[in-house]
Amino acid sequence: MYPLRRNRRLRANEAIRSLVRETIISPNDFLVPLFVVEGKNVKEEIASMPNYYRYSLDLLEKEVKDLWQMGLKSVLLFVKVPDNLKDNKGAEALNDNGLMQRAIKTVKNACPEMLVMTDVAFDPYSAYGHDGIIENGIILNDESADMLAQMSVSHANAGADFVAPSDMMDGRILAIREALEDEGFTDTGIMSYSAKYASSFYGPFRDALDSAPVNMKNIPKDKKTYQMDYANRFEALRETEMDIDEGADIVMIKPGLCYLDIVREIKNAVDVPVAVYQVSGEYAMLKAAAEKGWLDHDAVVMEQITAIKRAGADVIASYFAKDVIRILNS
Ligand code: PBG
Repeated sequence: MYPLRRNRRLRANEAIRSLVRETIISPNDFLVPLFVVEGKNVKEEIASMPNYYRYSLDLLEKEVKDLWQMGLKSVLLFVKVPDNLKDNKGAEALNDNGLMQRAIKTVKNACPEMLVMTDVAFDPYSAYGHDGIIENGIILNDESADMLAQMSVSHANAGADFVAPSDMMDGRILAIREALEDEGFTDTGIMSYSAKYASSFYGPFRDALDSAPVNMKNIPKDKKTYQMDYANRFEALRETEMDIDEGADIVMIKPGLCYLDIVREIKNAVDVPVAVYQVSGEYAMLKAAAEKGWLDHDAVVMEQITAIKRAGADVIASYFAKDVIRILNS
């Protein structure tokens, strides 16, 4: 006798496949990272991120309007800070008229309904390319968390809807939540990079913002004392549960594709939305392979994005967001 169940019936044609498909991608899934620079009329392509750009504020305005037209309703802002404004304490991060604060206002003016999330971290402001204040070769935890809390208040004050701390200092979510409450920003959300691994996939991003750790005596050459060891799984759960207890509204796992086991584990364990960041190195790899004609760009983009969502992502931060919309519309 034939098997009672023939699974191929559900794959026989596109109509039945689309009827039973479990994971559907839409513009609502995306958070679009944007890189902002000083200047006028600047749209610079990032060398290691083909077709991805840094925008000056005037062109940022146009870009967010285009995103909104495409149905992309959330952005995550990053700034490239001029060298002369970098120091060990990240003082420029607290400048209420700094580039980030002006970028927030620019987006809100251009597109009031656009959800604005901001990167809360030191590294673009650090003369040493680290996410915290350094003393005697050590990244100080509590002093750095305190700065991140002040930075978050400054972003909220400029109009940010969510702050997204990406530093991995201990206790910073509580410090940020308390500071926001104290200053009356009770509606400002926190999307915490909860399980952020010390990954070599961040290389192109550090090119984009010129934010890599510097090679100097007494400065740690990597971020392994605060970002997580990629060999660890239980630690990701612990970090994430602590961030939720401290007041995170959304938790994030980063990078994406190499960490989908962690995504599923966290998705099963928590009851807040889970975000995944498909990072710069993941973008660069596919662009490079596609340029060489070795992979079908659009097909692989959709396969990767679907895999991230299938693993449990409620929110996907991806440099491919506009590519996905183009593909969905084609
Ligand atoms: C910095 C930050 C990094 C990314 C987001 N925020 C880099 C790092 O930690 O060195 C990486 C994003 C990407 O690679 O796309 N706090």
